[in-house]
Amino acid sequence: MITLNNISKRVANRTLFENVTFTFNEGCRYGLTGPNGSGKSTLLKIVMGVEQPTTGTVALPKKVGFLKQRIEDFSHFTVLDTVIMGNTRLWDALSERDRLYEAEMTDEIGMRLGELEEIVAEEDGYSAESNAEVLLIGMGIPEEFHRKKMAEIPTDRQFRALLCQALFGNPQALLLDEPTNHLDLESISWLEEFLHDYQGVLVVVSHDRHFLNSVCTYIADIDYETIIAYPGNYDAMLVTKTAVRSRAEDENKAKEKKISQLKEFVAKFGAGTRASQVQSRVREIQRLQPLELKKSNIQRPYIRFTQPEKQSGQVVLKLDNVSKGYGEELVIKNFSCEIHKGDKIALIGNNGRGKTTLLKLFAGVLLPDSGKLTYGHQVDIGYFPQNHADVIDKHTDRTAFDWLKGRKEIVFDQDARGVLGKMLFSGDDAFKAVRALSGGETARLLIGGLLLTAPNVLIMDEPNNHLDLEAVSALAWGLEDYKGTSVVASHDRGLIDDFATKLIAFEEDGIHFFQGPLEEYLQKKAAK
Ligand SMILES: Nc1ncnc2c1ncn2[C@@H]1O[C@H](COP(=O)(O)OP(=O)(O)OP(=O)(O)O)[C@@H](O)[C@H]1O
Ligand SMILES: [Mg+2]
Repeated sequence: MITLNNISKRVANRTLFENVTFTFNEGCRYGLTGPNGSGKSTLLKIVMGVEQPTTGTVALPKKVGFLKQRIEDFSHFTVLDTVIMGNTRLWDALSERDRLYEAEMTDEIGMRLGELEEIVAEEDGYSAESNAEVLLIGMGIPEEFHRKKMAEIPTDRQFRALLCQALFGNPQALLLDEPTNHLDLESISWLEEFLHDYQGVLVVVSHDRHFLNSVCTYIADIDYETIIAYPGNYDAMLVTKTAVRSRAEDENKAKEKKISQLKEFVAKFGAGTRASQVQSRVREIQRLQPLELKKSNIQRPYIRFTQPEKQSGQVVLKLDNVSKGYGEELVIKNFSCEIHKGDKIALIGNNGRGKTTLLKLFAGVLLPDSGKLTYGHQVDIGYFPQNHADVIDKHTDRTAFDWLKGRKEIVFDQDARGVLGKMLFSGDDAFKAVRALSGGETARLLIGGLLLTAPNVLIMDEPNNHLDLEAVSALAWGLEDYKGTSVVASHDRGLIDDFATKLIAFEEDGIHFFQGPLEEYLQKKAAK
């Protein structure tokens, strides 16, 4: 059981929650939902004690597993160590022990080492590595990756390693922050099954409707500065939430109408002979005060890419027998293709088959090992990487406004502010530090960069990760409307259906360029 007592949280000038009291019960699986920036990650951090609430307290079981949203915090650790860190008590003891063994031995240090050894034994530290390896293998991370640094393995595998970190040490409660980002459909169904069997308290943040519907027995929705629990899955929550809201609004309207009638009566007869009737109406007006309904913070960004400043040539990109690999293994093998002006291409296929690598080649972030890649006339690429930290350095005090202005050589302040407003950073929010931005806010800022620079080729790697449903549909609309050339990797069928007219499919038997939309491709594949 996880209990929140009177939790409030204010950040800068905003209230995220006000006096929230809530219990997450044993054996229930909660989806924690709410729009980007509503405070889901912050709430999980408060529960974990990583961040302090403004007021209130949290009660927790002894062992809690936590899936973090940021991989870049672990890039310098090995994969195995990253997993073992999931048991904080063990990890702290192991790190202190290693430090002390390097210092000169004294009685005091000897005593402390004894204590530490005890903790390590209690926490099953001697089998930590082998336990971690079992988890990693189960999650599809091959043994040769286990001793590598996180930054040296593919991005999607880094996220799986974080998932192993959360599961390490059999926690009684599991807090997952957007676990399906970066996972392909196969891995998502694996995770769904895994979570069905999990016995402890589960709290999972997600914007993936299908996943929430399949996993959750309750939805805890953050909106109106509080958390409301709805029994059932995500779709059931939407129905109830809308119904409850419109009932409250209707009641308020009825009350307001009644009040104005009563006021009229009081105004008419207040000075006259019907004193007792007037008095009782005044009392009724006081009793009827309509509830103050807090505004919902669901909002939709406006994503419309402007007409590119320069036009590219008819052939945008040409690959001749291009190969690319990491170490021994080739991820892309002798791939050739031609991308034409105005193409709207989706990259589909399971994790680990090279979508990100191919996009990085397209974007010029990586160079081919062999073969030839040529760009067409006046090609101007805007790149949205899978890992946002590749372009937004989160370790500085830069504001969203400064970052955006830095994307273009000459830019007027009001143009930058305009873009920020469309991306829902209005007023003071434009001057938020990028390091404070939530996952979805960061993705919106990146899209803002693309709006501002107006490239004629968009290369986007899973742009819908982290975005809430409103933002994903805004993005789908923006991509459909875009007049340049776009190449986008995604696992979101809705998004692909909406914009893509061609596909690059990463299948087990290789990479195929398909000159038609997803539906046609799937039909052809099924017919085989
Ligand atoms: N130190 C801070 N200063 C100012 N604002 C902050 C700070 N820390 C967090 N915030 C803001 O608090 C809000 C909640 O952030 P949080 O990461 O919890 O959102 P979230 O619900 O997890 O969103 P997402 O769905 O995008 O992941 C955001 O608007 C964020 O910018
Ligand atoms: Mg978040």
